[in-house]
Amino acid sequence: MSSKKIALITGANKGIGLETARQLGQQGITVLAGARDETKAKQAAEELCKAGLDAHGIVIDVNNADSIQRAAARIERDYGRLDILVNNAGVMIDDHKKKPSEQSLEVWRKTFETNLFGLIATTQALLPLLRKSAAGRIVNLSSILGSIHFHATPGSPVYDFKLPAYNVSKSAVNAYTVQLAYELKDTTIKVNAAHPGWVKTELGGEGATMDIPDGAKTSVALATIGADGPNGAYMHMGETLPW
Ligand SMILES: NC(=O)c1ccc[n+]([C@@H]2O[C@H](COP(=O)([O-])OP(=O)(O)OC[C@H]3O[C@@H](n4cnc5c(N)ncnc54)[C@H](OP(=O)(O)O)[C@@H]3O)[C@@H](O)[C@H]2O)c1
Repeated sequence: MSSKKIALITGANKGIGLETARQLGQQGITVLAGARDETKAKQAAEELCKAGLDAHGIVIDVNNADSIQRAAARIERDYGRLDILVNNAGVMIDDHKKKPSEQSLEVWRKTFETNLFGLIATTQALLPLLRKSAAGRIVNLSSILGSIHFHATPGSPVYDFKLPAYNVSKSAVNAYTVQLAYELKDTTIKVNAAHPGWVKTELGGEGATMDIPDGAKTSVALATIGADGPNGAYMHMGETLPW
């Protein structure tokens, strides 16, 4: 069994996920770059390997139970355990021109399918392998847009950003993180929610304030926290956010 840590990052073919894989790889961790498309998974791994990292592409579509099971079976076969799971895959598909009450149910369902149910399905499938790690770490990509406190507070940084399906899916990711953290509190596994910042990716858009290397830092920090680190926290760059 490998003595190097093994990390799986979903949605690692671009954006914050690819950069998280790169930064974890730079710490000597074996990274499994997840992508729902086989070619994209291979390309991501090739890019990381060219930079001298121990990276492998893995197909995982978080909306597809068979795909998740195949990924879990492959990790079990090749490594026998998983040390780090970064639930990074996510979508933002709200119609920016619509008010919260007008957003279609289709948008709500598709958003929750990936951002919440896909994250839960992936976590459930990988938890048995994380339990075999000496110190499993789960990082759930949330967003400051998931903060109910900020959304209810006039003048807060997100008060006017009402993209309801996305925002509420991330509030639900936060709530799930707390539920799972409770279950895992007496184990060596820690699960936390990360707000990466407003990052210049396809999802974040060009107006975003943060470059991708900085945008991966919160995920990387939570993926590598020590035994004295938080469990069930909602963090950005070392700071705790209000739920
Ligand atoms: N960028 C920001 O400002 C910001 C702020 C707060 C939170 N976040 C969160 O950070 C995470 C990464 O976002 P990003 O900005 O890096 O976005 P991005 O560049 O659009 O990347 C999203 C990734 O998720 C993947 N994905 C989507 N649906 C998937 C599925 N069903 N199965 C597997 N992979 C899937 C995408 O794959 P494809 O290429 O195949 O579509 C892509 O690899 C997301 O959870 C997002 O909500 C981002």
